[in-house]
This record gives sequence, structure tokens and C-alpha cells, in this order.
Amino acid sequence: MTRKNPALKLLQISDTHLHAAADSRMRGVTTYATFLAVLEHAQRDPRWPVDAILATGDIVQDESRAGYERFRAALEPLGVPVYSIPGNHDDPKLMSEILASGSFQLGGELRHGPWSIVMLSTFLAGEDAGGLGPARLQGLRQALAAHAGQHVLVAMHHHPLPMGSAWLDGVALRDAADFWRVIDTHRGVRGVICGHVHQASDRTRNDVRFISTPSTCAQFLPGSEFFALDERPPGMRWLELYDDGHIDTEIAWVTGVPRA
Ligand SMILES: [Fe+2]
Repeated sequence: MTRKNPALKLLQISDTHLHAAADSRMRGVTTYATFLAVLEHAQRDPRWPVDAILATGDIVQDESRAGYERFRAALEPLGVPVYSIPGNHDDPKLMSEILASGSFQLGGELRHGPWSIVMLSTFLAGEDAGGLGPARLQGLRQALAAHAGQHVLVAMHHHPLPMGSAWLDGVALRDAADFWRVIDTHRGVRGVICGHVHQASDRTRNDVRFISTPSTCAQFLPGSEFFALDERPPGMRWLELYDDGHIDTEIAWVTGVPRA
């Protein structure tokens, strides 16, 4: 059954890995060019415009001010609020200077009709893995309590469930068991979305959807024990959230973008 009229429409973009220089490449991909191609593709989709864009970390690759400024400059003209959280490659201080004003918000929450979105930082300075720790877990508990009665989507960078890829699962969310313990005690959580893994997945754990989203640049090979790239093109994820708590979601792969 195709549903109509979602309560909230979102676009998730993740792992843009921009650099100070517009023509910089990472793993054979000019990340700024693929990011722009993703945004152009999104604006041609019938689901556009969305109520918000969720950027789930690794916004820049080189912790550069210029990378964040380019990210903001590309998104600002779209006229859509942008919510972001840091990934392991990010600099939260620079993000708070560049991505936390006007239509841009760093972390925090978004409430829209019957839905609330909780942006949860898993950033650990100097680490590729992610973590929450007591303070962020307490913040999550408080946010979920504050949004009691709402359907909740939690957005984070690191994956809280194994992807079945040994190297990637070594840099996952360290205190995932503590995270799920909090999620399990709040009835309203409908979904958890993440970036970091550069691949699409969609499964259910205790009635909560867990969804990962491809990068806007290069993808990782699913199921690989060691680091390996996938041939899949740049991607993004559409999310349509309904009054009854249902989540419709679809990946859009953007083909035909020159790799370099
Ligand atoms: Fe990451």
C-alpha cells in the first residue's frame, strides 16, 4: 500500500567528507562534486522540498573551516533547515561556529506534529569509534522523556548494531548496549538512523527500525572483513514519517557522476 501525506518528510545526507579545496579527492571521488550532484538530484525528486535535511556526520574529511563553509554555502540556498551532528572526522567546535545559526542547527531536537527527531552526538575526540558515556546517555533519557507521547527518530553518526564487517564493527558505537537499554525503556522510539558505514541497511530490533545510509561520496563493501570499497554510486536517503508512527524510506543512488 502506498501511503499519502506524511506528517514529516526528511532527507538524510551523510559522510560528505568535504575538504578545504573544492577539487580534493578521497578514494578516487571528488567529494564536493558528488555532494553537489546529490543535492541536484534531490531537488528534481517529487518528494522535494523536505521539512528538514539531517546531516549525520563526517561532513568534512580534513577538519577544515573552508570545508564547513562550502557545505553551508551549498545547502543554504535550498531554504530547508539543516540539522547536523559530528562524525569521527569532524571538528565539533568548528561546526558550532559555522553550522549552528540561521537555518542550521547542531545537535538538539526537532519537533514537528506527532514526530520528534533527536540528534545524538557519538563523537569521541581522537577516535574513529563512537561513544556516548554517562552524560550523553542521560541527555538521551531526558530528551526521550521530554518527547513522551511523540513518535521519535534518533539520528546518530556511528552504528549501534554490527554491520557484519569486521573492520567497520571495530569502529562502531562502543557503548551500544547502554544505548539500546535506554531506547528499550522508551516506547515512542520508532527508528534509529546512522551514517559512518557508507552503505544502506534496514532492519528491525525490538520493533525499532535501524537504518544506515550510504555516503554522498564513496561506499564501503558490505560484509567485508577488511576495508574495501563498493562500486555503488553516491547516495542519500528519503524518509517519510506518518501520523501512526510508520516510516517509509528509500535510498536514492545518483548515477552518472564523474568519479574524478
Ligand atoms: Fe565516520
